[in-house]
Amino acid sequence: MNDRYAVILAAGQGKRMKSNLYKVLHPVCGKPMVEHVADQVERAGLSEAVTVIGHGADAVKELLGTRVSYAFQEEQLGTGHAVMQAENILGGKQGVTVVLCGDTPLIRAETIQALMSHHESTGASASILTAKAEDPTGYGRIIRDDNGHVTSIVEHKDAKMDEREIKEINTGTYCFDNQELFSALRKVGNENAQGEYYLPDVIGILKKEGKTVTAWQTPDFSETIGVNDRVALSAAEIALRHRINEHWMRQGVTIIDPDHTYISADSVIGTDTTLHPGVTLTGSVEIGSECVIGPYTEITDSKIDDQSQVRQSVISSSTVGKQVKIGPFAHIRPESVLADDVKIGNFVEVKKSSFDKGSKASHLSYIGDAEVGQEVNMGCGSITVNYDGKDKFLTRIEDGAFVGCNANLIAPVTVGKGAYVAAGSTITDDIPSQSLSIARARQTNKEDYMSNK
Ligand code: UD1
Ligand code: MG
Repeated sequence: MNDRYAVILAAGQGKRMKSNLYKVLHPVCGKPMVEHVADQVERAGLSEAVTVIGHGADAVKELLGTRVSYAFQEEQLGTGHAVMQAENILGGKQGVTVVLCGDTPLIRAETIQALMSHHESTGASASILTAKAEDPTGYGRIIRDDNGHVTSIVEHKDAKMDEREIKEINTGTYCFDNQELFSALRKVGNENAQGEYYLPDVIGILKKEGKTVTAWQTPDFSETIGVNDRVALSAAEIALRHRINEHWMRQGVTIIDPDHTYISADSVIGTDTTLHPGVTLTGSVEIGSECVIGPYTEITDSKIDDQSQVRQSVISSSTVGKQVKIGPFAHIRPESVLADDVKIGNFVEVKKSSFDKGSKASHLSYIGDAEVGQEVNMGCGSITVNYDGKDKFLTRIEDGAFVGCNANLIAPVTVGKGAYVAAGSTITDDIPSQSLSIARARQTNKEDYMSNK
């Protein structure tokens, strides 16, 4: 087998996006486009990937890290010029190079591999991944001769009226013999509508030199959507959402309304879990089996174990055990850990706190920077007072403690094992285990006060 390399083009600004964010960094299903492409290149098992960066170079580097190497394109003079920047790294090598655009987030590793196999089996100098587009506007068109052989690619802006009728488009993914690629690139000029050095011109150049050029057409146009503006961004989002949702439904997940369920590419969901409309899973979310995730729940970078139920709530960077009940309208903020059988009810906010097995905060509470033991009951309106305006302090509530309604626990403070906090108390000192603590003013009744007014 030949050595296989990849070049990912990601240096353009993306003027048509009309955005302060560089194009390839726009997210699709929660992940920047160029990261989708890099993920698939990695899955395809190529020996080396070079990303060409320019606009937003630092941000792209930060995103992709050391997974790829980088070539810098100082001025964006076109896709052909962009690939030339990788010559320092790849130029001397023998093998096959796949070139991909950082703005085609739906491309799949399987398709990259199919294109490479086709390329290698035909012994071609270049192979183009093409697709049939219902509306090919904006894409380069594949020009074939009377025998159906590819002769060149014509950009939309340079195409004549009859060429614009062609529905077969250049997807922007190609396979080249590495040496032929760089030698043909040196011959590419910029006499065209955009004054740019076009990578697709390499096809016509190789063909004229008598080299074999082939095309491999993918049956799924949506996989090759090139995102140049917000309209295409939305089309890519919808297509990827359907792909992801369909995958999970086939794995045994019930999705009540797949048009309105938003699952990131890096989420994993167990069988017999049900997702209700409006559920949004962002980043890396892991949900176990037989869970019910209720309408409009947002979960980010969190793990939820089997048979848990979440209704209309927000959960970020946290871990949730088995058979936990959350919501409606609860907010589980980062670094929270809820053990099995915990209940966090309506209008409860939990921040950087742990709840051990079976503990409950059923209504209207704020629990921040707290370690809550097992089988603890946090009464309605109970609050950990964790912040003095400058620093944060820890509250410890030990196993079996009962915290009455509207209690303030002023941290740092410990409520001992099995202790009982009377409703309305403001606790400033540690409570020994098994004690009752009452810390509130006594009630005074002034009889007939109102009638004598
Ligand atoms: C390109 C193809 C077109 C194809 C389409 C598929 C060319 C000339 N045209 O058009 O045939 O149908 O993709 O989506 O290649 N880039 C650089 N440096 C540059 C210019 C571009 O790195 O100087 C990068 C961009 O960041 C982008 C990719 O190359 O990720 C493609 O560039 P773009 O401007 O989107 O080309 P299209 O007009 O979409
Ligand atoms: Mg594009």
